[in-house]
Amino acid sequence: MIIERVKTDFSQKFGDHFRLFAAPGRLNIIGEHTDYNNGFVLPAAIDKKVYLAIRPTGDHMATIYAIDLNETVSFDVNKHQDQLPQWAKYPFGVIKEMQKARLEPQGFTAVFSGDIPAGAGLSSSAALESVFAVAINTIFGLGVDKLKMAHICQMAEHHYAGVKCGIMDQFASIFGKKDHAIRLDCQTLEFEYFPINTGDHSLFLADTRVKHSLASSEYNIRRMECEKGIQLISNHLPHARSLRDLSPEKIKPFKTELGSPVFERCEYVTEENDRVLKSCEAMEKGDFRKLGEMMFGSHEGLSLKYNVSCPELDLLVKTAKSLPGVLGSRMMGGGFGGCTINLVENSAMEDVKTALDHSYLKQFGKSPVFYNVCISDGAGEI
Ligand code: GLA
Repeated sequence: MIIERVKTDFSQKFGDHFRLFAAPGRLNIIGEHTDYNNGFVLPAAIDKKVYLAIRPTGDHMATIYAIDLNETVSFDVNKHQDQLPQWAKYPFGVIKEMQKARLEPQGFTAVFSGDIPAGAGLSSSAALESVFAVAINTIFGLGVDKLKMAHICQMAEHHYAGVKCGIMDQFASIFGKKDHAIRLDCQTLEFEYFPINTGDHSLFLADTRVKHSLASSEYNIRRMECEKGIQLISNHLPHARSLRDLSPEKIKPFKTELGSPVFERCEYVTEENDRVLKSCEAMEKGDFRKLGEMMFGSHEGLSLKYNVSCPELDLLVKTAKSLPGVLGSRMMGGGFGGCTINLVENSAMEDVKTALDHSYLKQFGKSPVFYNVCISDGAGEI
């Protein structure tokens, strides 16, 4: 059990007396690449998590042991570091962003491990950021509220991992609620918990086990393309400050001026915002066919207009679409690899997995990995 391992390793390395924290990864039912466009998303925290044991040292040194990599780093929280391994940039970034916010985290020893597969689009990095943010906030009594913590984590990702992500992943990891999805309005940051009650259906994830190296550079490019689109459109429609303020009809007249691919990017985002709202309505009514239709629509847009899919994801979705009992399927997260999320009738689940495995193996010479996920609470002390 991971928690036991974290406790034992902490005790062996640093002695007894520690506090334990956990932060989850996330899935996203629908609303992809909409967060940094001030749109809507529908994520949920999952039962795959990062677990952290931590204790203050009373000085300024932070020493962190990553069990899964068998690697330890030490740094002075008040100094700059540019030689850290990639994983350590996340806690370091959180500390630095806290300091920018005039908070004063002190030194600590910590040990962590987790079961969120890296590169699967389940936000293992957001979970790492949020577990450190919540733990440091708690043990030093910094008094940061959850929303500010999500922002601190997001900025750690921007400035120390180089990905100009939106707020979705960190928000979901911190605000997650058992058995609920979060409908988040990324413009106002108002949110509502939606019971995930899929009746005779289940959501499961199919991991392509690929992550193309383009992922983070292309992510930042998409963000720039959307910014370019809104800049041009706002010359004509000054009230439009983000793509959130526009519908697919409103942007049509600017097709020539925006050109390709900027127009397609903007069109996708406006359509995806619509789909999130329709999906929430469908969930409220228990209309899973409609929800599934929205998921397929989302994938088509992500693949053809937003251009963030890849052959592995496309094959899993195309195969799923051809199978009885599958209501919806789409790529999830930033794209270029990672998982698809699938809405499937419980009675068809095993046949669907077998068929997906068969066609993926045939095409790519390896099997996808399937995850049945439970929706869990957000980051906190355990
Ligand atoms: C990544 C980012 C999120 C979001 C998704 C795409 O997971 O971290 O902010 O933009 O991609 O929806």
